[in-house]
Amino acid sequence: MIILGIETSCDETAVSVVKIERGKFKVLSNVVSSQVKIHAKYGGVVPEVAARKHIENMMPVLISALKEAKIKKEDIDVVAVTNGPGLSVSLLVGVETARTLAFALKKKLVAINHIEAHILSNCLSNSKIKFPALCLVVSGGHTQLVLIKDFGKYQIIGETLDDAVGECFDKVAKILGLGYPGGPEISKIAKKGNPSAYNLPRPMLKYNNFDFSFSGLKTAVLYLTQKLKLTPSTVADVAASFQAAAIDVLVQKTIRAAQSNKVKTIMLAGGVSANKKLREEMGFVARKNNINLILPDLEYTTDNAAMIAVAGYFSAVAGKFINWEDIDVEPNLRL
Ligand code: KG4
Ligand code: ZN
Repeated sequence: MIILGIETSCDETAVSVVKIERGKFKVLSNVVSSQVKIHAKYGGVVPEVAARKHIENMMPVLISALKEAKIKKEDIDVVAVTNGPGLSVSLLVGVETARTLAFALKKKLVAINHIEAHILSNCLSNSKIKFPALCLVVSGGHTQLVLIKDFGKYQIIGETLDDAVGECFDKVAKILGLGYPGGPEISKIAKKGNPSAYNLPRPMLKYNNFDFSFSGLKTAVLYLTQKLKLTPSTVADVAASFQAAAIDVLVQKTIRAAQSNKVKTIMLAGGVSANKKLREEMGFVARKNNINLILPDLEYTTDNAAMIAVAGYFSAVAGKFINWEDIDVEPNLRL
C-alpha cells in the first residue's frame, strides 16, 4: 500500500510518501518546508503568516515529495491529512489540498489526528510495540501520558493543567535571550551548564496522579533571572537547571504511570522527544525498571508528514475512510 501524507497543522508544510510492504514501513520521501526562520522574528508562530506560507509552499513540497519517491500520482492508494488539532487556518491548507487530490485522482481519503500521528511515528523504526504501551507526548502544544491498549485504542491518563512542556522550553529560552524555537537552544546551551546550580521546583511530582504543570517552573525561572546577572555562564547554568527540573518530572511521572498500568513498552513522541537528555534519562530509568523503550528517530520527532502517512495506514486498514465532501478541520481535536 502507498500512502501520501500531508501535514500543515502549525508552521511546517510537509508531504511524505510511505510504502507499506508486509507490515514494514518504508519512507520513500519525507519533505518538510519549515517556516521557523520566518516566525523566529516574532518569537512565535503567527497564524495568518503561517497559512499564507503553507499556500505558497504546498505545491512545490508536494511535487518534490512525489519526485523523490519516484512514484506517479496514480500509484497512491490513500491520501492522509492532519485535520486537527492545530491552527485552523493552517490546517485548512492541508485539508483542502487533500480533498482536491482525493476528488481529482479518485483516491481514498483519511483524516488524521496530529497527536495520534506523533505517537505512531515510533512505528517508523519498525520496532515492535508490545501492548499495553504508554506514550509520553511532549510537543509545543501538548504534554500527555497516553495509555495504549492497541492501535487506535488510546486513553489519556495524565496531561498538563497549564503550559505544554515545549511551550515552557520556548518561554524560558525567551527569558534567557535565546532564539526560537527554544527547545534546541536550551538543550545546546545546557550542555555547558551545571544542572544542580539552581534548585528549581519539580511541579506536581509528589502528587498521586499523572498530570503535569509547567507554568510555575517558567515563573520560577523568571524570578531567578531577575535576581541574577545574566552572563554566558549563568545562562548556561539556568538552562541546565531548568532542563533537569522539567525532565525529572517527565521521566518520574512516566515511570510511575508505566508501573501502575503494568505497561510493556514506553514510547516518546513530539518535538521535545528530540531532547538528548530526556532520551538518555528515559533510557536509563526504563532499563532499570526492565521496560522496553522505543524512541522515535530524530527526523520524525518534530512535525513531519511521514508520521501522518503511518497513521493513515492504520486508519485505512481499519476502514476509517472519509468522503472528500465531508472532511473538515477540527482545531481542538482530542485523542
Ligand atoms: O511536535 P512539534 O514539532 O510541534 C508541535 O506539534 O507542537 O514540537 C515543537 C516543540 C517546540 O516547543 C520546541 O521548542 C520543542 O518541540 N523542541 C525541543 C527540542 N527540539 C524541539 N524541546 C527540547 N529539546 C529539544 N531538543
Ligand atoms: Zn506536532
